[in-house]
Amino acid sequence: MVGKMNKIVLAYSGGLDTSIILKWLQESYGCEVVTFTADLGQGEELQPARAKAEMLGVKDIRIVDLREEFVRDFVFPMLRANALYEGQYLLGSSIGRPLIAKHLVAIAREVGADAVAHGATGKGNDQIRLELAVNALDSSIRVIAPWRRWNFRSRIQLLEYATKHQIPVPKDKRGEAPFSIDANLLHTSTEGKILEDPAEVAPEYIYQRTVDPIDAPDTPQTVTIGFESGDPVSVNGEAMTPATLLTELNRIGGRHGIGRLDLVENRFIGMKSRGVYETPGGTILLAAHRGIESITLDRAASHLKDEIMPRYAELIYNGFWFAPERDMLQALIDRSQAFVSGEVTLRLYKGCASVISRTSPRSLYSADLVTFEESSLAYDHHDAEGFIRLNGLRLRSWAARKGT
Ligand code: ARG
Repeated sequence: MVGKMNKIVLAYSGGLDTSIILKWLQESYGCEVVTFTADLGQGEELQPARAKAEMLGVKDIRIVDLREEFVRDFVFPMLRANALYEGQYLLGSSIGRPLIAKHLVAIAREVGADAVAHGATGKGNDQIRLELAVNALDSSIRVIAPWRRWNFRSRIQLLEYATKHQIPVPKDKRGEAPFSIDANLLHTSTEGKILEDPAEVAPEYIYQRTVDPIDAPDTPQTVTIGFESGDPVSVNGEAMTPATLLTELNRIGGRHGIGRLDLVENRFIGMKSRGVYETPGGTILLAAHRGIESITLDRAASHLKDEIMPRYAELIYNGFWFAPERDMLQALIDRSQAFVSGEVTLRLYKGCASVISRTSPRSLYSADLVTFEESSLAYDHHDAEGFIRLNGLRLRSWAARKGT
């Protein structure tokens, strides 16, 4: 025994690793373990998780469909910010963790558990995200991270433990360690094995939800996305719920090889890591959202959003979704979105999602102001002369001093 607990809620995927964790918790703490399996749209059948948990003696098994909550309350608010970590990563795994933590805490309170447990390893970002979220939601709940506690030192020892406890080990898991894959409605992320050498080109077989752009259809496809107050609400004129909409864009985008990213990133814990991401629907939505903002946001509002975006993205990457500063930035972002409504059409073609038109009932765009043709009232060319003369004043002083 490594400690005294009365009940533990485990984030349980039904896979080999969390099944081993489940057994290990039961043995080490000698208490009841409640399992929580979340459907975030990872595309796996979740009923096998129930059967496995039952087999391992779990009495309270929770399997919850969180797809709508995930997209509505986590993905869309993040999309309003156009969030990208290190300029490229759409944060697909990062944004899933606070939601899982939220439900772990809710179940722990409901069943009177004093701890929650998770299967994230000791080198990654996910342990930080889960645990910081739990800390921010309930200071009384403890977190158990078996990967950091147990004495298994190799994959072989883990597999031996599984066999000893009649935990089924899938055939393909007997040999080499598998890729570390994390999937939800926003993305699939693949890390480990051959990808650990950033000089190695990622083999085609690792991709799961996108075709190689080279093999994508030779005919482009257009798609129109409707926005209301910053959030996407329809595809090609058809209103959809958040999760349905993202599922549909994943399907369309995947066909055209949209949203692949091969990235070396800086983990919060300190090391660099290389991952391959597939975010077809998210990539389309980011381009579309920027498209609708381009005609509906004021310049200074838009630039302010862009200034805080890297900070906001880093907070999400580092696991501070439930921290007060993320909340404050979110309020700023949300405040900017009231008039971000209208439609954006994109052309999808061989890995690219390009905006080709945008319209909005709340547009700030003025053809009359910008036209090269003769136009009316609001603009006097002479004003530009004074504008440039005053902006150039200090530059002329500066240039004169240089003596050029
Ligand atoms: N590197 C990415 C991130 O930190 C993905 C992590 C994926 N998690 C996993 N269990 N493979 O957000």
